[in-house]
Amino acid sequence: MSTHTTESHAGRFPRLATLLAFLAATPFVWSQHEFDDAADERGPIRISGNENAFGYSPAAMMAMMESLGNINRYARDEAAAFVEAISAKERVPSDYIITTPGSGPVLVMTALAYAAPGKNMITVTPGYLQLARAFEQAGGEVKSIPLTDDHAHDLDAMKEAIDEDTVIVYICNPNNPTGTIVDPDKLRAFIRSVPRDILVFVDEAYLELADGGLEANSMIGMVRQGRNVLVSRTFSKVYGMAGLRAGYGIAPPEVLAKLRPFHLGGPNLLACVGATAALGDEAAFAENVERYRATREMVTEALDDMGVKYADAHGSFVFIHTGVPIERFQARMEERNILVGRPFPPMLDWCRVSIGTEEEMMTFLRVFREIMTEEGRLASR
Ligand SMILES: Cc1ncc(COP(=O)(O)O)c(C=O)c1O
Repeated sequence: MSTHTTESHAGRFPRLATLLAFLAATPFVWSQHEFDDAADERGPIRISGNENAFGYSPAAMMAMMESLGNINRYARDEAAAFVEAISAKERVPSDYIITTPGSGPVLVMTALAYAAPGKNMITVTPGYLQLARAFEQAGGEVKSIPLTDDHAHDLDAMKEAIDEDTVIVYICNPNNPTGTIVDPDKLRAFIRSVPRDILVFVDEAYLELADGGLEANSMIGMVRQGRNVLVSRTFSKVYGMAGLRAGYGIAPPEVLAKLRPFHLGGPNLLACVGATAALGDEAAFAENVERYRATREMVTEALDDMGVKYADAHGSFVFIHTGVPIERFQARMEERNILVGRPFPPMLDWCRVSIGTEEEMMTFLRVFREIMTEEGRLASR
């Protein structure tokens, strides 16, 4: 950690000392954006972008506050401490880790490192597009495999699509936008069956929220075994720090060596400090997981009650079959001051709804019922 203490900065910057004293005396409000029917006055209910509405670790907030006086320097000790904390959490040596501002850059760097005319990658549709888009822009071909009838990865079809020019198989687990997960034993068997020279990229952005969490589902064990696998994680989702920009990739050093020429820099000093503190704040993490799961269950139970279909939800969102064209549904929701997910072709009468606070989701469910009734999708009660 930094050798610059808060005390010395607080001494030199009186306003910082005042701020820290104020913060020390202020109880943190865990959830800062509670909405209710007064959402109009407070701006729209934003359940469109898979952001965390519950808030983030108070310890991380405090650690960042304490580091505000240090940002005249580049992140050195802070970046090293961040890697060390990840190494301890993931049980991999530090040369298996690359840190980035959010996990998105890991996806883009991988695409740029592997794409070339004549090469292809395999993904699913609908799926998360960041890696595939960059791959295509860099001249590669993207093979998009339809999901199964359960809206999950079709591993057999993905395997069949592999040819001698395939360089990456991308598995987003849970899948965004459907929220479905891949059975971990099946995924391990799939990884073992893929030719060794093909990188299997497992995007675990939401995996903490799946049944069984990281422990039961993560493919990090395959990385530890030295397989040609890259696992990416982010602080934008369950950790609630999307605006901070911290994430990382874990892969054998020879894979990371291919990515490094495309690395535009790690997370900034505050992001390193905040994310490191968040990793140490188990209580905040557990509370966030618990709230996410309970609120997601509240939503899925209400949908069951209405007889509305949705995909098996393991992420921070629920993909709902409204039966209404998404652009129309989105516009109707927006009229009611609720922002929901964008269209995900080809599932154009489905809607991805991010999990917001309990109050936000109760408002959403009430408005959802009204709109679905008006659209003739639900019988009026
Ligand atoms: C599946 C998945 N991977 C990666 C990301 C990238 O997010 P970030 O760059 O904030 O880590 C997202 C963001 O929504 C996502 O849904």
